[in-house]
Amino acid sequence: MTSAPVRQPTAARVATARRYLMCEPTHFAVEYSINPWMDPTRPVSTAAAIAEWTVLKDTYERLGHRVDTIEPQPGLPDMVFAANSGTVVDGVVLGARFRAPQRTAEADFYRTWFLDHGYRDIVMPTKTNEAEGDLVWTGDLLLAGTGFRTDPGAHAEAQEVLGVPVVSLQLVNPRYYHLDVALFVLTEATPGSRAHIAYYPAAFSPGTQRLLRRLYPDAILATEEDAACLGLNAVSDGRNVVIPKEATALTAAIATHGYTPHPINITELRKSGGGPKCCTMEIRG
Ligand code: ARG
Repeated sequence: MTSAPVRQPTAARVATARRYLMCEPTHFAVEYSINPWMDPTRPVSTAAAIAEWTVLKDTYERLGHRVDTIEPQPGLPDMVFAANSGTVVDGVVLGARFRAPQRTAEADFYRTWFLDHGYRDIVMPTKTNEAEGDLVWTGDLLLAGTGFRTDPGAHAEAQEVLGVPVVSLQLVNPRYYHLDVALFVLTEATPGSRAHIAYYPAAFSPGTQRLLRRLYPDAILATEEDAACLGLNAVSDGRNVVIPKEATALTAAIATHGYTPHPINITELRKSGGGPKCCTMEIRG
């Protein structure tokens, strides 16, 4: 007799309705370079970015999710990457503090959005904190990346503000400068079982790789090709997974595990180092 696997690959996957905040890339451009994907000499089409973003938003709505939008601001070409401006768990909003001066002003527009929408439990961080870019809620633990953007001191701050356990993860490859381009949650944790996640091991330090294996022995491991098209920057509702279309091996793997992939084109947004998840802040409560 062999023992049963931790999680049956054929388990029924259950979607739960989500609420997302997005920002139309009306002013999208690559005018500066703060990550290796951004080349300001390469042409970018704002119209193409808006078209990609609109398909992404329509996909969420078609899947039954609620999408709120925030007014895009001129002079903030990266404001489309809503995930970087807040981490919301149980109605508590932890805002952002950007590393790059070019993005600093975004944080306050998002803070104001939450105020205008009835949120009162809003804390702005004192340490560099790029929100869901580096802080990934798994349902029981908050995985927190550092190495390129978010300060390790922001991890302790997140634990204190959100009241959830934080696990720090060390990122080592500048192409995977945010945690959300190296790892995503397929199914959140339930009482008695950890989340089901996918990640690209080489984006992490050796110690963090060991930690991830220990916490998530049944994780789906992405290939270099999957990671290199920002395939880990995917969004799952527990069943449906919106994923960059070039991530073919990862798409096949998640389908084998019972998820329904929704491949999406992010060619233009990727020129800024962003994908579906970067464009999507989840509002939990
Ligand atoms: N150009 C943006 C930056 O470098 C992209 C942010 C992508 N967002 C994300 N959640 N990974 O800051």
